[in-house]
Amino acid sequence: MTTSLDRPRRITRLLVTGGAGFIGSNFVHRTLAMRPDVHITVLDAMTYAANPANLSGTGVELVVGSVADAALVDRLVVSLGEGTGDAGGAAVVHFAAESHNDNALRDPLRFVRTNTEGTAVLAEACVRHGVHLHHISTDEVFGDLPLRGSGEPGSEDRFTVDTPYAPSSVYSASKASADHLVRAFVRSHGLSATISNCSNNYGPRQHPEKFLPRQITGLLDGETPRLYGTGENVRDWIHVDDHNDAVWAILDRGVAGETYLIGADGERSNLECVRALNGIFGRDGDDFVHVTDRPGHDLRYAIDPSSMHALGWTPRFTDFAAGLADTVAWYRDHRDWWETSRKDAELVYRATEDILDP
Ligand code: NAD
Ligand code: TYD
Repeated sequence: MTTSLDRPRRITRLLVTGGAGFIGSNFVHRTLAMRPDVHITVLDAMTYAANPANLSGTGVELVVGSVADAALVDRLVVSLGEGTGDAGGAAVVHFAAESHNDNALRDPLRFVRTNTEGTAVLAEACVRHGVHLHHISTDEVFGDLPLRGSGEPGSEDRFTVDTPYAPSSVYSASKASADHLVRAFVRSHGLSATISNCSNNYGPRQHPEKFLPRQITGLLDGETPRLYGTGENVRDWIHVDDHNDAVWAILDRGVAGETYLIGADGERSNLECVRALNGIFGRDGDDFVHVTDRPGHDLRYAIDPSSMHALGWTPRFTDFAAGLADTVAWYRDHRDWWETSRKDAELVYRATEDILDP
């Protein structure tokens, strides 16, 4: 349901959930650099996915706690409006989530508690105190598309705001449920909210459990890249700063009740990504191993970003090869940041993963 935008467009106070994780911390850094007048409080449970170093030196207040803690969330949302004399100048930007599909296979209920219940708790508090909620969601809620050129129905399609939801994993189903809950709070409880569904992000500070940092940090440790299955699966890559600029475009100009799809025309197969990384490291492009595939592995994601173009946003990082090289340089320069979390992530992976064609 679309309602008219009944809040000021100049947001000066933010509660950023999940602000110590990958996208949330990049959002905090970018906001402080571009909008020094914005006051930020971060709510983060500091799970394995958070890194305290992500916020060091920023001066933002970090509240350690869960988005599913209703009393804590209520207190934070109330105080968000205080000091402005106008709760309309405040917003919650909700990044917090359990975000990794492979973990959802191991511990699905944690995803439901944080992603689904946590979003409902935030939405309810925002209704109660008249604060706008921007909910960060994913393109994975739409399920997957057939490979381009395969001749299958849908193989030339991209996801649009009208694509029906068909999530494949408990991660994407928990995010889909959260989106539905936000829309229900808008329609039936008068919540002011916007939703964005973004494609796969890359850039600095992404946990080494995820595909690109896993391969980059492995290469930095002299290891061979690991591709799930055949490597033909396609993701639609976007630089994290482009994602976060799009979020600000929505906060500035988005219409309450609307959903926006964020993507940067960045479709690449996993195989193409690994070849590009091998190239950056001066290695043979085809020097990788195939490992056990992920059960239920989505084949292709692709975003039609026209809803964002209509808001006047376009991506700045249009050269994927250059963005990837910069990301590799960041990991090369920040070994302290990733070394321990890589070891932890690899212990979990190696317990279940077999090399398919040694
Ligand atoms: P991340 O795993 O790097 O960070 C998630 C953060 O949320 C961590 O700091 C973690 O400690 C925190 N968190 C987890 N459970 C919490 C809880 N119960 N209460 C408070 N904080 C909690 O994830 P990310 O990649 O930065 O993703 C951020 C958001 O963007 C998620 O909602 C995700 O679904 C969405 N998204 C991610 C991508 C991507 O490519 N990474 C793409 C589209 C959308
Ligand atoms: P991931 O970063 O987990 O993101 P998502 O599953 O949410 O898209 O994985 C991106 C793609 O990379 C996905 O198709 C799975 C694949 N992948 C590998 O091929 N090897 C790996 O070691 C990992 C972690 C992922």
